[in-house]
Amino acid sequence: MKPVKIGLMGLGTVGGGTATVLQRNADEITRRCGRSLQIVHAASLEIAGQKLLDPARVKLTENAWDVVNNPDVEIVVELIGGYTLARELVLKAIENGKHVVTANKALIAIHGDEIFKAAQAKGVIVAFEAAVAGGVPIIKAIREGLAANRIQWVAGIINGTGNFILTEMREKGRDFYDVLKEAQALGYAEADPTFDVEGIDAAHKLTILASVAFGIPLQFKKTFTEGISKIAREDVTYAEQLGYRIKHLGIARRTERGIEMRVHPTLIPERRLIANVNGVMNAVLVKSDAVGPTLYYGPGAGSEPTASAVIADLIDVARAMDADVSHRVAMLGFQPNAMSDVPVLSHDEFETACYLRMLAEDKPGVLADVTRIFADKHISIEAVIQKEPQEGQTRVQLILLTSKVLEKQMNAAIAAVEKLDAIEGKVTRIRMEHLG
Ligand code: HSE
Repeated sequence: MKPVKIGLMGLGTVGGGTATVLQRNADEITRRCGRSLQIVHAASLEIAGQKLLDPARVKLTENAWDVVNNPDVEIVVELIGGYTLARELVLKAIENGKHVVTANKALIAIHGDEIFKAAQAKGVIVAFEAAVAGGVPIIKAIREGLAANRIQWVAGIINGTGNFILTEMREKGRDFYDVLKEAQALGYAEADPTFDVEGIDAAHKLTILASVAFGIPLQFKKTFTEGISKIAREDVTYAEQLGYRIKHLGIARRTERGIEMRVHPTLIPERRLIANVNGVMNAVLVKSDAVGPTLYYGPGAGSEPTASAVIADLIDVARAMDADVSHRVAMLGFQPNAMSDVPVLSHDEFETACYLRMLAEDKPGVLADVTRIFADKHISIEAVIQKEPQEGQTRVQLILLTSKVLEKQMNAAIAAVEKLDAIEGKVTRIRMEHLG
């Protein structure tokens, strides 16, 4: 059979990995696919210095528009990142009748609805496995492997850089920025690493996971996002003493009132498998009604792991492109006319247990004043630790673990505690999940 002709936009970390693996594993891929996958056109701003593709066999350009406008190209692979030029290129590729494979989570999370609508109208496929959790085939697992289930929640470590930083800080006591620099050098971090550290990258991915899990439109703006930059070493230590690990989790949960979509540092019991996912590895735990909990684990970033997901999509598209549109898997897993308009909850409506740390004057009655505030607001305290004052100090660290409570109730309680004369500064709040 004739080869499938591919246009590749971007030859950076993921694009380079894609070119390498496509060529190295060409025979195996053809055995699986039934047709060979051939890069016929590639674009990169540094195309002159590239050594991965043979210019005698592949057209090379600095101009990505040449690729989307090349009539020979059947599948465009978008690996340039960003969501302005990438959006225009992808929409043009679709208009030109080409299928699209992308690793671009920002593009899908922010412009996905527009892109899928355009693709549906044109009868082409947009595939995005590499956009979430790098090499872990989580989109396919949820969309196809769990298709029998009503999914209850998804909780994932979906930013490798953030997990790498938290792991190195906990295990080696390393400095935050020192680890971040290493993650950048290893090609894990985003072009703008605040996307990793402040949870924006994880929020992009969680937005996509929520859509494939619950069949809802992509709603990035409604995803609550809190990063890891304010996590103190002492919180990591106290969490460990209490039998927890701090992980940066993305959580999408179906509740009776609507869907929670949130990314924030989270205390999870250290006995959970996901609490032991370290370094750049990602893991996504999915709780579904029929199968129960299932866990997906693997490298969430990096050149060849992400290329693995890109090429799996290429193979899927190559298999499905000649099939009738009605025989294809819906791009978000649910039929476009069956998407749900269930509301996404504002963060005031979330319900979580909390870890609270505060600096208190060491004198009689302070603990009673604090606990009275929680009692008045019907918040149950599950555990209290007071650290002995350091020599010469008159203040002590007070750590409370609460039961599940609505965020707005907790906000009010924290505000009242911070007003107490005996409490110094802000209360540190880290949400908790037992993931049972
Ligand atoms: N910066 C991302 C991460 C890369 O660290 O997980 C993969 O999306």
